[in-house]
Amino acid sequence: MLKSIVTGAGHYLPERVVTNDDLSEMMNTNDKWIVERTGIHERRWFTPGVDTVTSMAKNASIMAIKNAGIENKAIDFIIFATITPDYFIPGNGVLLQRELGLQGIGALDVRNACSGFLYALSVADQFIKTGMYKNILVVGAEIQSSALNKNDEGRSSAVIFADGAGAVVCSATEEEGRGILSTHLHADGDFAEELYVKDPGSSREVRVSQELIDSGSFNLSMNGNTVFKHAVLRFKEVIEEALATNNLESKDIDLLIPHQANLRISQYIQNKMDLRDDQVFNNIMHYGNTTAATIPIAISESIQQNKIKSGDLVCLAAFGSGFSWASAIIRW
Ligand code: COA
Repeated sequence: MLKSIVTGAGHYLPERVVTNDDLSEMMNTNDKWIVERTGIHERRWFTPGVDTVTSMAKNASIMAIKNAGIENKAIDFIIFATITPDYFIPGNGVLLQRELGLQGIGALDVRNACSGFLYALSVADQFIKTGMYKNILVVGAEIQSSALNKNDEGRSSAVIFADGAGAVVCSATEEEGRGILSTHLHADGDFAEELYVKDPGSSREVRVSQELIDSGSFNLSMNGNTVFKHAVLRFKEVIEEALATNNLESKDIDLLIPHQANLRISQYIQNKMDLRDDQVFNNIMHYGNTTAATIPIAISESIQQNKIKSGDLVCLAAFGSGFSWASAIIRW
């Protein structure tokens, strides 16, 4: 039976480090508040003129393809998860395809915010299982810093979100006992406006006007408390769904990689699921929340740090705007 396995991972983080102290010069916040509420100490912001979503994704992809031990030309499909594309149209998949010299292959964009990478991975898994493609490049990359309202009004989001890129190569295998065991996708649009960017929406007579800009509708709007409450429930639920589907228990997990939303959310899940520190991967302290990029960055770093080895049971889980949430369980 055809299955998909992750054969290589890569990541790229922009050079510019922005500490909590740096933020406190821009807005009324402080290191203590940010660390206590989010666990974040520093994050990366892109450098205009140097980094683009495409360039960061390209760097992550080259590393993933190299680690997979294949050539660019072996990639037969691209799935690109981002909510911060370089252009409004077309999507980022084609821009990355051009950069990698892969003109002609299909390129799909996924817009499911913090769950975007897992939605993309699930799509890749289905395409591989049906035999349609052999090697799919699955990417998550974001530039959030240019959309943040970096003043007192926007401070609860501005301290959380940041920039970065990660990528994996998903390949077909017939090897027994390895691969993506299952993926689980959910959403509830009742909460669409709890974490969203309203404009430039298409349903207004004029998409961009000074009035709209001044109203703040281009800024990220987040009801942090509601997001937190739903995140802790849904993360646990979707991880348990993945375990139950495969007759597994939380003690069987070698590594849980939660979307890096907030360290307090990860710690809450770790406690509720009775997981040891070495079973949960966190790097939000250094990079903040890079939306669709957090999970592939974390996969790449976990492999580099020898935290994922062949045969390990790895669980990925995410929650974010939509609300949408998802999980994947992989025998590495
Ligand atoms: N620095 C200092 N003070 C801040 C602040 C900041 N960056 N942001 C908000 N505050 C203040 C608030 O104004 C409020 O002050 P008040 O009590 O005088 O009104 C106080 O801190 C508490 O605000 P509140 O929003 O209730 O804090 P919180 O404990 O809920 O923490 C979040 C805010 C955003 C950190 C928290 O809600 C959270 O983590 N939510 C989930 C966000 C998330 O994970 N998003 C990504 C999902 S993918």
